[in-house]
Amino acid sequence: MNRSEIVFYLNGQRQVVSGPDVFLPLSSYLRYSLHLTGTKVVCSEGDCGACTVVLGWLDAENKLSYRMVDSCIQFVYQLDLCHVISIEGIGTENNLHPAQKAMVEHFGSQCGFCTPGFVMALVDLTEKQSTYNSVDVREKLTGNLCRCTGYEAIVKAALSLSDTKVQSIIQSYNQEQMTSEFRALRGDNVLIEADTGFAQKKFFKPSSLAEALNHKSQHPKVRLVAGATDVGVQANKRRSHDTEIMFIAHLHEMGSITVPKNPTEPQSAASGSQIPRIEIGAVANWTDIREAVRPLIPAFAEILDIFAAEQIRNAATIGGNIANGSPIGDSLPVLYALDATLTVQSAAGSRQVLMNNFFRGYKQMDLKQDEILTNVSIPVPRPGSILKLYKVSRRKDLDISTATLAIYLEMEDGKVSSSRIAAGGVGPTIQRLSKAEGILSGEKLTESLLRQAGKAAVGEIAPLTDVRGSREYRLQLIENLFHKFYFEEIRAREVA
Ligand SMILES: Cc1cc2nc3c(=O)[nH]c(=O)nc-3n(C[C@H](O)[C@H](O)[C@H](O)COP(=O)(O)OP(=O)(O)OC[C@H]3O[C@@H](n4cnc5c(N)ncnc54)[C@H](O)[C@@H]3O)c2cc1C
Ligand code: FES
Ligand code: FES
Repeated sequence: MNRSEIVFYLNGQRQVVSGPDVFLPLSSYLRYSLHLTGTKVVCSEGDCGACTVVLGWLDAENKLSYRMVDSCIQFVYQLDLCHVISIEGIGTENNLHPAQKAMVEHFGSQCGFCTPGFVMALVDLTEKQSTYNSVDVREKLTGNLCRCTGYEAIVKAALSLSDTKVQSIIQSYNQEQMTSEFRALRGDNVLIEADTGFAQKKFFKPSSLAEALNHKSQHPKVRLVAGATDVGVQANKRRSHDTEIMFIAHLHEMGSITVPKNPTEPQSAASGSQIPRIEIGAVANWTDIREAVRPLIPAFAEILDIFAAEQIRNAATIGGNIANGSPIGDSLPVLYALDATLTVQSAAGSRQVLMNNFFRGYKQMDLKQDEILTNVSIPVPRPGSILKLYKVSRRKDLDISTATLAIYLEMEDGKVSSSRIAAGGVGPTIQRLSKAEGILSGEKLTESLLRQAGKAAVGEIAPLTDVRGSREYRLQLIENLFHKFYFEEIRAREVA
């Protein structure tokens, strides 16, 4: 069945939205359409967390799974069959939520503009954990910026909630009522057309991958939207004006993650290879991927620890990171180094492309107009191999990379038997550093060899100067990272 409206719940109240409001960021819908002004907007690009809300959507088990997200880059059209909890839904003036009380008691607010966002992040924390230390709190609050308090008071407020019994806000809403309605509507396609005052816009939410592929073949120029963490920023900053949108993030056929049960045993993977592989659906989000890859590819999980912040990781997908085509996408170098395989599908069928062959130039991909990226298959590093990933940015958290480097070396008898090295932020696409690879191949890893490889790498890259760093800085950086790799991975093992 085709539906022409978005159905969701806001603080337990049913919402049915059609017309131009469908295309608004959730924060604007809350503030301007519903006059719920508790949610604040500062940056409109996912950088400050002032607009944080808690969002529940149907997971593979048909249950509502709740995560915090930034509502400024979450559009109403993404909310179909979701439950949004905003700051208005957690307490009242006379009955504050414990997170609100704690912020008052510990002087966690001054101008107050950031406060609803911090409170919502603390609500999310108390829903997920009952005990936490200051490291957990700081990680949880990475996506929230405060210009006034210096954070200490907020951290104290958060810590005061650890080991206390905080009543679940999520469970205070009727989960059964919402999920049974959502399950009943899940088979609908949603098709909405509206005049926003600026343009005539069209929205489609397919009920299945087959519907999505069919729609894409008939509307090849439709903008795919998954987490909207790239698309949303472009739209809010008026750098893009998409008039046709297809939302794919809730397609369960593209959302699963499969980890090999016994990674030391070869398996018959979907991609036909005998190497154990982690299979990741293109709309799997970074929060889930981070936890899934940690046991088998810990270096990848560590890079994801500093990928954006939790609000973004909860929404952002691996497919969006790849298809966005940015040479500073943080997942790309590791996917090159591990020789990942992508599956792309159209209504006519599917094909597989090596990540190493996917990009042809700046934002140019081996992806036809009727195709959707559906799966990423990552070989598990071989036992005894070395995988090291570097992300260099101006600050550790919530920052875009200045440059990235992935070094993957397979070893035999103390020598490099095979190598794949890829760098980002140093050219129009990720660059494989084949000269550096050649220098390491067949050799024992020494300081002078790594220095030589670093110098060769510099000859293979053509970085630009931009706000994050000059061309000269990036050249020196890549060279130095090879040296750093020697001390961190080789020397450290020798002296251990
Ligand atoms: C505050 C902030 C911090 C960030 N920090 C980082 C960071 O540290 N590292 C980093 O790498 N990125 C970062 N990003 C960028 C972004 O979060 C990632 O690129 C993310 O993975 C994009 O996924 P998405 O699902 O949100 O993509 P979307 O915005 O939904 O889509 C991005 C592009 O991919 C296309 N697309 C999406 N899915 C598919 C598909 N399955 N098939 C074909 N095309 C598709 C869309 O049409 C669009 O062109 C950050 C963004 C923000 C706002
Ligand atoms: S307003 Fe800054 S993250 Fe949304
Ligand atoms: S209290 Fe002013 S920005 Fe945080």
